[in-house]
Amino acid sequence: MPFAKITQVAHYVPENIVSNDDLAKIMDTSDEWIYSRTGIKQRHITVDENTSDLAAKVGEQLLLQADLSADQIDFIIVATISPDGSMPSTAALVQSKIDAHRAFAYDLTAACSGFVFALSTAEKLITGGYTRGMVIGAEVLSKSLDWSDRSTAVLFGDGAGGVLLENTGTKPLIIAEHLRTDGSRGNSLTSNHLELRPGLLARPKPVAEFIKMDGRAIFDFAVRDVPKNIQEALEKANLKPEDIDYFLLHQANSRILDKMAKKLGAERSKFLQNMQDYGNTSAASIPILLSESVKNGKLSLDKNSKIVQTGFGGGLTWGTLIVNL
Ligand code: ACO
Repeated sequence: MPFAKITQVAHYVPENIVSNDDLAKIMDTSDEWIYSRTGIKQRHITVDENTSDLAAKVGEQLLLQADLSADQIDFIIVATISPDGSMPSTAALVQSKIDAHRAFAYDLTAACSGFVFALSTAEKLITGGYTRGMVIGAEVLSKSLDWSDRSTAVLFGDGAGGVLLENTGTKPLIIAEHLRTDGSRGNSLTSNHLELRPGLLARPKPVAEFIKMDGRAIFDFAVRDVPKNIQEALEKANLKPEDIDYFLLHQANSRILDKMAKKLGAERSKFLQNMQDYGNTSAASIPILLSESVKNGKLSLDKNSKIVQTGFGGGLTWGTLIVNL
């Protein structure tokens, strides 16, 4: 059976930076409040690029780094909760923008767990016989932010990151995985709800497009269910936290990472962190962190490192992959 390998990583964020101080000029907040509660200092907010533009930039970069032509790509999966539209998918737009005419392409929606769910899916495509594909997490969350709601507007940012997956591995890429969903708790984090029309000729009801969140409930979910999930994945792999080189968790909040490390009894310094620069970019946060960590030399794709990748968010969804790089 062929094994999947992550052979390239890339990320792209819009140029425009919005700092906490910039936000304090338009809403009743402060750098001190935002940084002390979340660890976020700034975020990138798009001016004229949509989700497929950010994702296509990542796709182009992956091809360039691998010295491949676009027609050598078999599939493209884009994990996103902020697609350009419901149809065509953002992945189909990326396929067209990078001219990967042989690739089949589709979006995967699992909120902040999207990249982890998509990488799990893509690994099965490779072990099932495909040669290579792209898995990209891309978000323009600023489209869905209510700038008058300081409790959500300060948390999110725009960006994209992704990996090239090829069938050239010599060992399994995913040592163990543990993916979960609990739809019964879905109401604590919502956006872009399409309401039913009350009758054929009735006016459409307004779309409830903004991100709405019960912050306390999400915080509790993150610090209760997620470390348990990581622990169970480690047990499946017969590993202990000290066997893991780095934990790449969804970048929502540094206090969540502090609590996770404590609960797992793992060194906090192994939990890589970049939400200070990007905010919460949902499905893009883990691939941006992975790409940045490879580019700054913290991680290597070829040193047999064991990393934990864990997403958690809307759905509710959460899940861990223990990955052998
Ligand atoms: N600036 C200043 N004050 C604010 C702001 C802000 N941006 N936002 C809220 N406040 C105020 C509130 O109005 C409240 O004031 P009050 O006491 O007068 O009513 C006060 O601050 C405390 O509000 P809380 O919501 O209780 O603040 P808390 O300490 O719980 O922190 C936070 C809020 C940071 C959102 C926290 O609940 C959290 O981290 N939750 C996790 C949610 C998360 O990370 N979501 C990301 C998306 S989901 C995901 O990615 C998993």
